Amino acid sequence: MSDRVVLAYSGGLDTSVAIGWIAEETGAEVIAVAIDVGQDGEDLEVIRQRALACGAVESEVVDARAEFADDYCLPALKADALYLDRYPLVSALSRPVIVKHLARVARGHNATIVAHGCTGKGNDQVRFEVGIGALAPDLKCIAPVRDYAMTRDKAIVFAESRNLPIDVNKKSPYSIDQNVWGRAIETGFLEDIWNAPIEDIYTYTSDPSLPRDADHVVITFDQGKPVAIDGKPVTMLEAIQQLNVRAGAQGVGRLDLVEDRLVGIKSREVYEAPGAIALITAHQELMNVTVERDLARFSRTVSQRWSELVYDGLWFSPLRRALDGYLEDVNANVSGDIRMVLHGGRAVVDGRRSDESLYDFGLATYDSGDTFDQRLAKGFVELWGLPTKIAARRDRRVAGN
Ligand code: ARG
Repeated sequence: MSDRVVLAYSGGLDTSVAIGWIAEETGAEVIAVAIDVGQDGEDLEVIRQRALACGAVESEVVDARAEFADDYCLPALKADALYLDRYPLVSALSRPVIVKHLARVARGHNATIVAHGCTGKGNDQVRFEVGIGALAPDLKCIAPVRDYAMTRDKAIVFAESRNLPIDVNKKSPYSIDQNVWGRAIETGFLEDIWNAPIEDIYTYTSDPSLPRDADHVVITFDQGKPVAIDGKPVTMLEAIQQLNVRAGAQGVGRLDLVEDRLVGIKSREVYEAPGAIALITAHQELMNVTVERDLARFSRTVSQRWSELVYDGLWFSPLRRALDGYLEDVNANVSGDIRMVLHGGRAVVDGRRSDESLYDFGLATYDSGDTFDQRLAKGFVELWGLPTKIAARRDRRVAGN
């Protein structure tokens, strides 16, 4: 029996051509797997059939939307994960769930090789291959674009010479990756980092500068998980989907970023992630209300480290798992309601309530009903500043004044 390759298939030009390209380069049979992580767009059955028409011996589609939302987006929300304090890890989060299904399908079909369409310049090759190395180390990884020099031009010639059922002219000038957590757009005129993004590149969000009425939303969280929107119960997937629509209509969650890739390159990426940004904004504020100060401060360090690990392809690392244990603990009290105004490209919190709140009106108020004993502050300030005071005295003495 010839070798079998499981290919992560998107339905686009590159991975469609990769089916035949891999078969010719390796002599192996290609099994195409399209994984639905909420990218919308084309019907998955159409994509499945296209893989067969392009020469795949088998073709599967997997609905991983709920799993992606529950097991990948939710931990990211509990971590308030934002790489470089801004990017909600849209692509980085989807790779591990795709890897999981590639490994599973490879096992089911006795495949020995996994293939993906990434280039040698990006983060995603790392995420795929480190993931496979963790889950199924016996599988070999190949990347035709990187390993067999399958350039865009050669792919078009290949598709035309084989009469593959793909419209090579439909190819967008951008490289786009999207899922329910957001959308990433790069290349084309965006590679000149002085060029501003144009309206055309966005599909999840409307122009935030257009006049429209504000939208008011209440998100209910239970232990860090969004469980209701405006009082109506939702799953994690529904919460993201509903907020993609509502926050997207207000232009929330656009971002234009020059980021540090793991391979050392700085690259420009434009993102839109309305649901993710609305949820993270709400969750951050509920953390502020319900999490004790030192735990909250340390959680911001954890959040940054968690984001770097996931960005850098280390989803399956022991450190990420251990940090998730920490974050579960932190989120145990993150329950309650957050009210937000979605408008003009921003999600702004304007109300919060929680049975687990640490906000004590009696301690905070400047009106009558104050329970805070202000006399205690005097001694506290004296002792708090003591080390600095002593050091400053020494510095003056050494400087001779
Ligand atoms: N820069 C992002 C990341 O590494 C997105 C990568 C995919 N982007 C794309 N437009 N195809 O997570």
